[in-house]
Amino acid sequence: MKNEIIITAAGHKGTLERLQKEFAAVNLWEAADRAATLKEAAPRMRGLAHFGHIKVDEQLMDALPKLEIISNFGVGVDQIDLDAAKKRKIIVTNTPDVLNNCVADTAIALVLNSLRKFPQAEAYLRSGFWAARGPYPFTTSVGGKTLGVLGLGRIGEAIAKRAQAFGMKIRYHNRNRKDVPYAYDPDPVALAKNSDVLMVVTPGGPGTAKLVNAKVLDALGPQGYLINIARGSVVDEAVLLRYLQEKKIAGAGLDVFEHEPKVPAEFYGLDNVVLFPHVASATVETRKAMGDLQVENLLLHFAGKPVKTRVI
Ligand code: 8YV
Repeated sequence: MKNEIIITAAGHKGTLERLQKEFAAVNLWEAADRAATLKEAAPRMRGLAHFGHIKVDEQLMDALPKLEIISNFGVGVDQIDLDAAKKRKIIVTNTPDVLNNCVADTAIALVLNSLRKFPQAEAYLRSGFWAARGPYPFTTSVGGKTLGVLGLGRIGEAIAKRAQAFGMKIRYHNRNRKDVPYAYDPDPVALAKNSDVLMVVTPGGPGTAKLVNAKVLDALGPQGYLINIARGSVVDEAVLLRYLQEKKIAGAGLDVFEHEPKVPAEFYGLDNVVLFPHVASATVETRKAMGDLQVENLLLHFAGKPVKTRVI
């Protein structure tokens, strides 16, 4: 008999198919009456596969009293109430490492596109302005600039390695200093002050909410750039928008937003921001690897073995 799991949202197609093959799955997002579906499924559900940005909160955990494991698709687990899971002795797993290279590639793309304004230069050509108005205005070089990594974990290190190959100097801030060959700053304001480009790579959730605020952006200053590939919640989005409008910072490159997929329309008209629709890990290969890891953690758990990538 197949183990029964609940799937919270319509996620990555190939992974959904695998989940539905390996397990007897209840598709929660398709339930006409969510409460009734949960009530009916509750006595049998030992596993939950999670996708996307809806909350896995105390209420959902209470509705599933037999729940033993939440297996998340993605490295970030900010949508899951970890304290509530811990209290109920529910294992939480994520999908780290398999996405480091793609996320780091995206981070570097945002650095290049923000400083060199390549998307804007391309739009200039497509609008016929090259011939009509002459060359696209000069931008600023990446090589020689200092990249400040806010959150030097495994993704941060992959970004730093790439940035060094582009001739950038690296600094970082973490809660704890690490044994790395990069200069350390004791807080985000000091890091922003000492950096030309501030790269946000911290986890999301309440611990980092609006960590990048007006003080940090003031320290970054009118020549500084902000790149965010972490979570929209880490940056005070309203303040960032105002700072871009008032040119209090030079520019920004954003892959994540506070209320995805909603992006404040005021960003669209700005020439000093590059906007990506949360594509950092979005390649065929990486999304498959993330899904395989999500499924593997569930299979291991149901086989009575330790899971591969446990968060708590
Ligand atoms: C995905 C991510 O976009 O891993 C994460 O934390 O933000 C991304 O890789 C997301 O998890 C897909 O739902």
